[in-house]
Parts: sequence; structure tokens; C-alpha cells
Amino acid sequence: MSETVLLVGGGGREHAIARAVAPDCELYACASNRNPGIADLAEGMRTVDETDADAIVDVATEVGATLAVVGPESALAAGVADALNDAGVYTFGPTAEAARIETDKAYQRRFMREAGIPGCPEFETFDDVAAACEYVDAYDGDLAVKPAGLTGGKGVRVTGDQVTKAEAKAYLRESDYDRVVLEERLVGEEFTVQAFVANGDVRTTPAVQDHKRAYEGDEGPNTGGMGSYSDADRTLPFMDDADYEDAVAVLEATVDALDDYTGVLYGQFMLTAEGVRVVEFNARFGDPEAMNTLPVMETPFLDVLTAARDGDPLPDLEFSPRATVCKYAVPAGYPTDPEAGARIEVDEGSVERAAAENGTEAGEALLFYASVDARADGLYTTTSRSFAVVGVDGTIADAEAIADAALAAGGNGLRVREDIGKPELVQRRIDHVERLR
Ligand code: AMP
Ligand code: GLY
Repeated sequence: MSETVLLVGGGGREHAIARAVAPDCELYACASNRNPGIADLAEGMRTVDETDADAIVDVATEVGATLAVVGPESALAAGVADALNDAGVYTFGPTAEAARIETDKAYQRRFMREAGIPGCPEFETFDDVAAACEYVDAYDGDLAVKPAGLTGGKGVRVTGDQVTKAEAKAYLRESDYDRVVLEERLVGEEFTVQAFVANGDVRTTPAVQDHKRAYEGDEGPNTGGMGSYSDADRTLPFMDDADYEDAVAVLEATVDALDDYTGVLYGQFMLTAEGVRVVEFNARFGDPEAMNTLPVMETPFLDVLTAARDGDPLPDLEFSPRATVCKYAVPAGYPTDPEAGARIEVDEGSVERAAAENGTEAGEALLFYASVDARADGLYTTTSRSFAVVGVDGTIADAEAIADAALAAGGNGLRVREDIGKPELVQRRIDHVERLR
């Protein structure tokens, strides 16, 4: 094995990245937390603040990294990819400037408007709370209120859905963000398409639907994502090939207009009555979506990384024709009042049995650790999502049955959204889009 890969980040997404690259390289990792799943796969795992670019460069130099992959947006925003590249370590992840497509939502929308990227909603940006509140009053229709900076997916408020206009204004006044974007509320079904991007090449992966709301039936506050599913082909049951192609066209137009983007470009789309619109872009894999996509990717991730670095065309990607369902187990009270420091049990053997006992021949059950605190006497919760299970099988229903059974590995004290990937919820999505069209 000639490549030494340094992975930055310690969540479920990074555990999925580690699992995808570890068989083909010597893997090292650094993250703020010691993720036991990544630690098992890596030759070494160092506890380092993910935004401390100098410390990460030191680790890369020490282990002789020939490639690096940056998982979290916080590290990209802190210039970790810039620093690693400057130190001569080719990094799959955008520079801090290029990552503004995610980290600055005002820039993102202006970029879309100026570059003529299809699917941009009507929007205005504000740095003055009073002016923003006047716009809310004057706007004919519902709006999304979006802080321009990073909020871990928890900063957006949508009128007519989560809040009234009066509550949206109160939110603007209380939170006192420096800059906000106010934009037209998009109504429809959300889906994610993630693409590998380097040297102008764009290779897209199957669509995934995440579930941002904390509670069953899409109730409650927004979270980092409670779980997600993908189908055995590249579309989802509520969309068709043309919708997927529209999303790909948006990603390709974006990469064309961005100068020399490297890394994952993640498009969050809304399938509306008027077609595919853009909710946002992210500059990295989604979490949980990486846990849907990477386990069914048959092309080695390392081949994408080396092609990107060596200036070769990116390989065409092959995916196993199987559906996936991912469910996160989160601390009690998450996201508003999460109970950190609770002891949890994770029975890895019972995850493996979940596939054998509930799936077909093609079935697989996977466990991805996220934000757990591994102490000498066991695992403890933090304030973030604890671990995820992923069922993989021929249909969404079979994959869901596996994920459901695998959750038994988690014992008591954690919360999950049971409804994700269940036939009733998937059918509601289909009915919703049928009504809109
Ligand atoms: P973001 O932080 O941009 O990922 O937004 C979080 C969530 O807010 C999205 O996944 C959507 O559910 C919702 N959202 C964001 N923008 C809009 C919009 N223009 N219309 C409706 N919902 C939105
Ligand atoms: N799943 C949403 C995100 O990663 O931002």
C-alpha cells in the first residue's frame, strides 16, 4: 500500500469515509473526539481540535500523509484544506474561500444569481434587523429566515411551517445575527445529491432524503439530521430520472462557475410544483447522507482521491443496486436540551445479527459511531448525535427492517425516529409530490 491518508473529523460521516478508504491505504485520523469506529480502522487517531490547522498539518507531516480528506465544514471554514495543501499534502476538500458556497449563505445566493445557476429562490440579504423585519412584514407569502453563517443545520426558521411571521421577527431580534438571508419558502420534498468534484470533473452519487426534524412525522425543531434513505437506483420513490438530471445540471453549472473547486459538492434540493429548486449547497459530504452513499459505492474512494490528486479524469462511479436506510440514535432531549454524560451500551454483535435475521441474501447492517465519548469504563453520550445504524438491502422496506433491528444494539436511554424509511412515510412523500404536480 503506497498511500497514507489523513482523515480530519470524528463523526458518523467520517466513520463512513474511514470505512470506505481504510481497506486500500494506511489511514490516520485526527478529530476533536475519539470516535471508536474510526480508531479501530486507523493506524493512529490523534485528538486535535478540528479547526486547528497548524496542529493538523503537524499530524500530517508526522505520519507522512500523501493525501488528506476533510469531513466537517468547521475545518474547511478554518482553512484546514488550505494549510494542508500549502504543506504539500493534497487535500480532497475545498479551500476556505471555495467553501463559502456553504459557510456564507448570502454569498451562496448572490453567486447563484450572478452566475445564472438554475433553481435559485427569490431572496434578499440583510445586515440590519429592523430592515429584515420590515421585509418580513411586506413580503407577500412565506419566507425562510437563514443566518448567513454556519449553525449546524439548526438556524433556519420557515414561516407557515415552523413559525408565524411574528415569531420569525422575534427570532431575528433575539438572535441578533450579523447577516441574514430572507428567501421565498420552497414547498415540496427535499433530496440531496452529492458529487465528487476535481479538476472540473463532476461525478454524482444516488439521491438521498434526510430527515431534519427531531420527532416522528416531521415535527419538532431542526436537527443535524435524524436519518436518511436512498433507493436501489439513483432516484427516490417520489422523483423521476428527469428530476435527478435537473439536480445534476445544477451541480455541473455550479462547478463550472466556481473556479477550480475540489472536494464534495453537496446539493440540497426541493422538488416543488415548479420543478427542482436549490435549498442550499454544502462543501462536504452530508451527515447522515455519507452513510447511505459510501457503503454502496463499489468504486474505491481511494481511486477518486488519487485521480483527483494526479490530475487524471475522475473514475466513473459504480454503485451496488441496493437501498439504504440510516437511523441516528441521539441523546435524550436532543437537540434542544441534550443529556450528555449518559452511559450507553452498543452491542456490535447484535448489529451483525440484524442483517442475518431480517434481511435477504443481499442484506447488510452497519454501525457508525458519531459523537460518543469513549472513557475507560465505556461509552458516554455528548450533546450531539451518538451513533447511526444503516440497513442495506434490495428495497427500502427491507433495508428499513434491518436498520430497525440493528437499533436494538443501542440499549436504553437514546432516542430514534422510528418512522424513517418505513413504507407509510415513504408513501406520504410520494403522495405529497403527486398532489404538487
Ligand atoms: P439549511 O441550514 O440551509 O440546511 O436549512 C435547513 C433546513 O431548512 C432545510 O433542510 C429546509 O428544510 C429548510 N429550508 C431552508 N431554506 C428553505 C426554503 N427556502 N424554503 C423552505 N425550507 C427551507
Ligand atoms: N444532512 C445535512 C447536512 O449534512 O448538512
